[in-house]
Amino acid sequence: MTVTIVVGTQWGDEGKGKITDLLSSDMDMVVRYQGGNNAGHTVVIGNKVFKLHLIPSGVFYNNVSCVIGNGVVIDPAVLLEEIESLKSNGHSVNNLKISSQAHVIFPYHKDLDAAQEKKHEEGRIGTTCRGIGPCYVDKYSRRGIRISDLYNQKVLRQRLEWNLNEKSFLLNNFYGTKIKYDIEEIINGYIGYSHAIKKYVIEDSSYLLSEAVSNRKNILMEGAQGTMLDVDHGTYPYVTSSSPISGGACTGAGLSPKAIDEILGVVKAYVTRVGGGPFPTEIKGSEGDKLREIGHEYGATTGRPRRCGWFDGVVMRHSAKINGLTQLVVTKLDVLDSFDTIKVCIAYKYKGKEMKEFPSDIYKLEECEPVYIELPGWKQDLSKVKDFKELPVNAVKYLDKLAEIAGCRISMISVGPERSQIIRV
Ligand code: GDP
Ligand code: IMO
Ligand code: MG
Repeated sequence: MTVTIVVGTQWGDEGKGKITDLLSSDMDMVVRYQGGNNAGHTVVIGNKVFKLHLIPSGVFYNNVSCVIGNGVVIDPAVLLEEIESLKSNGHSVNNLKISSQAHVIFPYHKDLDAAQEKKHEEGRIGTTCRGIGPCYVDKYSRRGIRISDLYNQKVLRQRLEWNLNEKSFLLNNFYGTKIKYDIEEIINGYIGYSHAIKKYVIEDSSYLLSEAVSNRKNILMEGAQGTMLDVDHGTYPYVTSSSPISGGACTGAGLSPKAIDEILGVVKAYVTRVGGGPFPTEIKGSEGDKLREIGHEYGATTGRPRRCGWFDGVVMRHSAKINGLTQLVVTKLDVLDSFDTIKVCIAYKYKGKEMKEFPSDIYKLEECEPVYIELPGWKQDLSKVKDFKELPVNAVKYLDKLAEIAGCRISMISVGPERSQIIRV
């Protein structure tokens, strides 16, 4: 039995979907514990590309139970679309389970997300505008509506009345929109969704997890986003509104910390970020464009071009520490195949001094300059390499540097989007 957490170690899009899918062949249960459809996890099987937003990436295995934990925020319309799309591609979702404690995204969450982004032109976060932040705000201010509330019409109506009054006032009087909500239309729509998802709803994911742990099952906790987008440990305020770090798996699904065996950090061989916020190793200009084009770095959720940069060792150390990584999986190594030399940031320079710790204050971070070492490229196509021994010596040296910085062993290296493009170490 093992409980493994798969966690993004950078600003998201590290390839968590691909790695979760790969590991799922040995799993009994795959669990999403935070975020919502701001996530876009790509799984490539043969020539088919699947982009999952809410459903765990273990869904392609019929014997794997796929759980959406209490810490996830759910847009039921998106969930149903995803279910239909999987079914129409011949994939069963019969093993899907949704915690009744998960919070629900309503139209006003999406409207508020968009209105807030529009209002704060300067310092815009660059959210996915999926209503994720406003839904978590309601959760923590105890005004949220949970999946279980969709089945209690009295509670649903009462909660919606409060929320619609408050949100309409805010949207129209502060954010200057002219949005009118029809409570009956919303209630009818969401009751419709509740019927459609009813067969997947379970009371509490913590029961399922504790039972699976007791029965010595293999469980994988699939993090969304990445450590640097964590609301506490990321580049606040340019973060998401949940806890993508390994610790989030406990609260977001009701998993006991004592049950965790492995914490697997997924790390891109370089770095990308979507949206606003500091990014010390960002490469502006043609070299950054080259990485974006070779790596197809466009958002799986919004299609936005991702900002690209060199591997950041300061971020890596921060991430390894916060998550307690026991293994590293390096993805997209193949994207660096054509570079003559590859830079690795090993520290930041702040006011003339070198620092190795990630600064918690982004205003300090904005003044940091990356300190680079430069490693020779391998100038060889890695996309068909299957065995570690076949890797060119310069690629091995690059990987060694990454492992040394992270302070943990590399257990897999991904050299292409497809399932089979993986080197197990
Ligand atoms: P996630 O959000 O962490 O699951 O990552 P995304 O799916 O948003 O982004 C990763 C992208 O890189 C997807 O398009 C994957 O198909 C692709 N990908 C994953 N691993 C590799 C790899 O090793 N090499 C290449 N070239 N692409 C990869
Ligand atoms: P996966 O799981 C990359 C970013 C947004 C924005 C910030 C806040 O695919 O790695 P939000 O809509 O969450 O309030 O936006 O977080 N962001 C992601 N960036 N990958 C993701 O998910 C992301 N989810 C959110 O771009 O900067
Ligand atoms: Mg993604």
